[in-house]
Amino acid sequence: MKNIIITVDGYSSCGKSTLARALAQELNYIFIDSGAMYRAITLYFLNNQIDIFDDHELEKALRNINLKFQYDPVSGSSHIHLNGVNVENEIRKMNVSNAVSKVAALEKVRDFAVEMQRKMGRSKGIVMDGRDIGTTVFPKAELKVFMTADKNIRVKRRYDELKQKTGYANLNDVIRNIENRDHLDTTRKISPLRQAEDAVVLDNSELNAEEQLAIVLQWAKEKI
Ligand code: C5P
Repeated sequence: MKNIIITVDGYSSCGKSTLARALAQELNYIFIDSGAMYRAITLYFLNNQIDIFDDHELEKALRNINLKFQYDPVSGSSHIHLNGVNVENEIRKMNVSNAVSKVAALEKVRDFAVEMQRKMGRSKGIVMDGRDIGTTVFPKAELKVFMTADKNIRVKRRYDELKQKTGYANLNDVIRNIENRDHLDTTRKISPLRQAEDAVVLDNSELNAEEQLAIVLQWAKEKI
């Protein structure tokens, strides 16, 4: 059995992290939520009122950001730490969700995040989810999954997740946020969200978590 890189890309709130996390646990791999990095960077910018269109200020802010991604293989839980503070719940809040895609479109931010992500994947044996993991971060990954799901189902998933993680959610805000992020993520100049040519598509609108895992596990076993 060899260690491979598995990428899981797709639209917002398709359940990418849930699947990637379960897959990593099953294979004894490391799970990395790349979206959490963009969210933590965004939180830093919001907290410090960084003018993201001022190049000098942006570079200085990025130099002051230290991110650590903590993954517990036993429980499958993950936490991102921003400058030593666990911000896993904070980064799921609406203020971050509404700003993150603008931040993630910036070249300097992407260079910063992609470099970290590539380092994390050096020893393989990872499942990383995001938007550009199969196209830009690991174009040679052995297995690339591209996830889609019906928009109404995605809205419900995000609404439930938000309520559970932050204690509050508003349905119209969630709908607007998902539509905006999908638009910004697919139309940005650098590394837009798109399906890699060699990716396999998983539409999980009608699939529960166990069914999704069984399908992707089979794909993974064919590569391992
Ligand atoms: O995955 P999640 O929804 O938490 O990602 C938050 C945002 O981070 C996305 O809407 C997207 O703008 C950005 N992102 C990205 N590239 C990735 C992962 C996330 O641009 N690889």
